[in-house]
Amino acid sequence: PDDRPEDEAERGLRVADRGFLNTAVIESAITYIDGERGILRYRGYPIEQLAEKSTFLECAYLLIYGALPARSQLSHFEREVLLHGIMHADATKFFGSFRYDAHPMAMLTSAFAYLGSYYGEANPSLQGQTLFTKCAKGDPEALQNMDKQIYRLIGKAITLAAMAYRVRQGREFVVPPTGMSYAESFLYQLDHLSPTDSFSTSSSASPSPSPYKPHPVLARALDILFILHADHEMNASSTTVLQTGSSLPDPYSAVAAGCASLYGPLHGGANEAVIRMLVSIGSPNNVPAFLAAVKRREKVLSGFGHRVYKTSDPRSFIIRKIADEVFAVTGPDPLLDTAMALHDAALKDDYFVSRKLAPNVDFWRHVPHRILSTIPCIGFPMDFFPVLFVVPRVVGWVAHWRQMMLSPEGVKIWRPRQIYVGPSERSYVPFNERE
Ligand code: ACO
Repeated sequence: PDDRPEDEAERGLRVADRGFLNTAVIESAITYIDGERGILRYRGYPIEQLAEKSTFLECAYLLIYGALPARSQLSHFEREVLLHGIMHADATKFFGSFRYDAHPMAMLTSAFAYLGSYYGEANPSLQGQTLFTKCAKGDPEALQNMDKQIYRLIGKAITLAAMAYRVRQGREFVVPPTGMSYAESFLYQLDHLSPTDSFSTSSSASPSPSPYKPHPVLARALDILFILHADHEMNASSTTVLQTGSSLPDPYSAVAAGCASLYGPLHGGANEAVIRMLVSIGSPNNVPAFLAAVKRREKVLSGFGHRVYKTSDPRSFIIRKIADEVFAVTGPDPLLDTAMALHDAALKDDYFVSRKLAPNVDFWRHVPHRILSTIPCIGFPMDFFPVLFVVPRVVGWVAHWRQMMLSPEGVKIWRPRQIYVGPSERSYVPFNERE
């Protein structure tokens, strides 16, 4: 029996949907997924076509503004994004307060939130919420202001990510270069040798040319990986960005919340978990024992399974193809044999087949590991992997955030309900009367 007060009960059915398996939280025109047929489209364009023909920043424009840009629109967008990658010198000091061994995701989450303190013009509480109201009404100045926050967030994503990497190594930060693509700029900022980089380069790798010039095949591979990760409709982190954004904070705070959500091993942290898993399995011979432990529920097969895809994730085929191009440049990946053995054995095993568990995009994540382990100085720490997911996903977050902010119906705060299962009313018991 429904014992809710009458006025509440009149509002209709309340559904408990643990994990939001069947709850659509928004109407969106951005990304389409058909998990049964393995289809992913950005604004109607198949991911396979975009990965082959487009660039990351063109896809970013498409996702955010809804249409493929004209040449002049793309040039303007690229220029603005790359220009806004530059950090104010004062803001870089903030990174000095992190422990040398802080997890890069913890640094990045804090850094995005910190940007909110820097750009007061985006903060509605300083502006009496007028910014978003004006945006929704199509005010050109307010829309320009919104665009500027978007350029900053995308441009600074690679700068902050590279800073988190270099902090770990005690290396000076690099000013974003000019004349490079987004992926090239990121590789440059990660690895450019600054004058105070006093350590020698590893003897096993070729010495770093100075100034650093990213390998074109690897830069293009990274650009495609960024395209594949740019958006994925209402995943946990995008939902978090919208949930946070629905109370109208500045977009930096909403993105910081998304970053925190992506940190976890069931979401963006899975790619780090895949690499650790492959390293711990060690060789194809150990695959059967590992799978047996997974089936006993002692371990998880990271990089398998997906809430939406019940067949192979289409992005995993594209990454598999890029992998061959990357390995042709970097040499074979020591983890590849183990990954292939694990992949083939799991797809033949009834435990995984009956649960429709197929490889997700994170399974082939050792590809960027290989791209970035070509960075000659120190190599690439595994815990940096979720950061490589955040960088492109900032685009999806801001695309969803902008769509919600400009929604003709206005923004409604996301305030779900619960099913209360605790005790009914009882009276306070003093200490001396408690059992
Ligand atoms: N290894 C072993 N068993 C698994 C796995 C896995 N990777 N994934 C799901 N299962 C099992 C579950 O134990 C459950 O079995 P049961 O019905 O006998 O209890 C069944 O398959 C259904 O799984 P759920 O956890 O209910 O599926 P859900 O949709 O809630 O979770 C998730 C999806 C979180 C991705 C899950 O598959 C998982 O933990 N995978 C490993 C982590 C991972 O790769 N995450 C990346 C996701 S993609 C991304 O964020 C980019």
